[in-house]
Amino acid sequence: MDLEVLNGLLTPKSVAIVGASATPGKIGHTVVQNLKESKYTGGVYPINPGAEEILGYKCYPSILDVKDPIDAAILTVPAKFVPQVIDECGQKGVKGLLIITSGFSEVGLFDLEKDLVKKANSYGMRILGPNIVGVLSNSDNFNGSFAPFLPFKGSGSLVSQSGALLIGIDAATYMKGIGFDKLISIGNMSDVNFADLIEWLDHDPNTSAISLYVEGIRDGRRVIDVSRKATKPIIALKAGVSAHGAVAAASHTGSLAGAEKIYKSAFAQAGIIQAEDLDNLFDRTLVLSLQPPLKGDNILIITNGGGVGVLGTDAAEKYGIPLKFAPDDVQENLKKYMPDFGSAKNPIDLTGMAGNDWYHDSIKSSFEHPWVDGLVVLYCETAMTDPLGIAKSIKLAIEDTGIKHKPVTVSFVGGERSEKAMRWLVENGIPAYAAPDVALNTMAALREYELIRKEANNEPFKMENVRREEALKIINKARSEGREALTEVEAKHVFSAYDLPITKSQVASTEEEAVRIAKEIGFPIVMKIVSPDILHKSDAGGVKVDINDEKGIRENYLEIIKNVKAFKADAKILGIVIQEMAPWGTEVILGSVNDATFGPTVMFGLGGIFVEVLKDVTFKVAPFSINQARKMLEEIKAAPILAGIRGEKPRDKEKLAETICKYANMIVDLKDEISESDANPVLVYEVGQGLKVADARIILKQK
Ligand code: ACO
Repeated sequence: MDLEVLNGLLTPKSVAIVGASATPGKIGHTVVQNLKESKYTGGVYPINPGAEEILGYKCYPSILDVKDPIDAAILTVPAKFVPQVIDECGQKGVKGLLIITSGFSEVGLFDLEKDLVKKANSYGMRILGPNIVGVLSNSDNFNGSFAPFLPFKGSGSLVSQSGALLIGIDAATYMKGIGFDKLISIGNMSDVNFADLIEWLDHDPNTSAISLYVEGIRDGRRVIDVSRKATKPIIALKAGVSAHGAVAAASHTGSLAGAEKIYKSAFAQAGIIQAEDLDNLFDRTLVLSLQPPLKGDNILIITNGGGVGVLGTDAAEKYGIPLKFAPDDVQENLKKYMPDFGSAKNPIDLTGMAGNDWYHDSIKSSFEHPWVDGLVVLYCETAMTDPLGIAKSIKLAIEDTGIKHKPVTVSFVGGERSEKAMRWLVENGIPAYAAPDVALNTMAALREYELIRKEANNEPFKMENVRREEALKIINKARSEGREALTEVEAKHVFSAYDLPITKSQVASTEEEAVRIAKEIGFPIVMKIVSPDILHKSDAGGVKVDINDEKGIRENYLEIIKNVKAFKADAKILGIVIQEMAPWGTEVILGSVNDATFGPTVMFGLGGIFVEVLKDVTFKVAPFSINQARKMLEEIKAAPILAGIRGEKPRDKEKLAETICKYANMIVDLKDEISESDANPVLVYEVGQGLKVADARIILKQK
């Protein structure tokens, strides 16, 4: 990352507004006005050949007429003038361009936009945009945008792919009392992209959490890499997943891989927390910008109302941190701060009689207990209590413990007084929300962050004995014959070059050859049609199993050919696979797609003929660690089947996890060759007995 250039772009010491206007209501006027109103202390240089001064700032005909150095130029000239202005900015030695102007790739002018980047980069400049609202930074008093004002102050920073939404969020920060330090509009992402901004915000001393509104990432691999290294929490709201739909595909995996699932997995692998909706993005950003991660599962709810306690309990379970009863000594101690009819189990119901002291004392004494990993304080506004007093007691109690490594979230249910008290809490570093459900959802985000960080830190699986040349030879042969789909046998040999356990198989072109191969492999045998025109072999009567002698081979050879001809008269038949019949095992599927955003991605799920109906599959962007492969085995609904149900012995999950890693490494190593692939079914045997890939498919990338 070129820190100096990005600093110049995002926290400029001086800024020119090229296309500044003296006419109120024009964007070029609003930007100058915003810089003034935000009390920006750097140099402001409006550029407009027709004006002497704008809003008290001296105006220059060209940026080249300004003597002082300029870090960033905000462009508000119409699109047709942008290339020439970029040249002038480059000659001036500007570091970065914030191009507000629309009318580039978003209207199909991709080449024009590429040319802008080429031009800017040739001068060493970076472009944010085009088609942006601008950049807003509280810590720099910098409103370099046409959004109305700087956001309510906070310590998270948001990058938004939607300009309009950024403007809406800006105003909403005041309504919600949840602020940001920076709002950055990323626009068309022609040059500066999500990965650049994540990396830069991770270095920004005024940002404690990074919040993203994402419609589509272009640099998926880099986003994963920089996010893994980031030291601050990252929260993303991904929109537009339904529009992408499933990838049009010729394989099982392709039809099962939806953008949403891959994004979800990629974010988890990157250590990025997901938000459900816009409110949730605010709420989770707030909690992650103020509180430490939740290191364990023991949360305590302290409340003055049974109702909110129950709501909190339900929410805890819903968000994956179910409540447990507090240990006896915690309960005994807490009984001191409640009447007889209170409850010290968890939730701790101090009852409606609870005032400042009971809140303070119960919080102080329980928060210190080693069993408690995190605390959720709930309060319903009563006539006998002052919400601000309760808020202050909560803060004081936590301060009195001196504990900084355990998180606290709060919810006050009430009116204006509660609203004010919650704002006070937020200003004092304690996230507070109007609904108990949200206090638990945000506590769960702190738990997710703790767990996801560990997952993101895993080292990719390493493997030896790869025979890459052998795999490439098979692929090149298919290409030389004009084929993009490998035959089953070819695909298996490619798998085998990456140490995947395959069933022995060879192609026979005559009945005699079939007999000879079958004898070599040994009975029982499976026979399968090899035809580029038959995708689902069973449907065409092209698969025969459990053949035990020469007579069976001969009969089935003829029958398969007959069936396939009847199914599709002009099907091109390349032969019949004679394959070792692997004993029955639990059927799973491994698959891969070369995702446009994240690159090679592995799918794992329950296999067999129901895979496309049940869609019980999970994805991970390759490569990944053995731990992540083990996690994939637990992520599917059918996970108990692998663990062994109804007297079945547990399956060899360890070998399966290892095989998934090898598969992942293969699709990364051959990412320029393989478009999609399947190993379906993979037969998984009892612990210690491994597994076998019984069928394989590889579709090559078009070259
Ligand atoms: N150098 C300096 N000034 C120049 C130059 C130049 N080379 N060329 C033109 N100008 C001046 C113009 O004379 C004018 O100043 P004036 O008011 O004194 O005459 C000023 O630059 C602006 O030019 P106009 O032709 O008046 O253009 P206008 O202000 O109508 O529109 C704009 C320009 C805002 C960049 C427009 O083309 C545009 O792209 N609008 C959309 C921007 C947007 O919405 N971006 C965010 C998308 S996200 C979202 O949807 C919220």
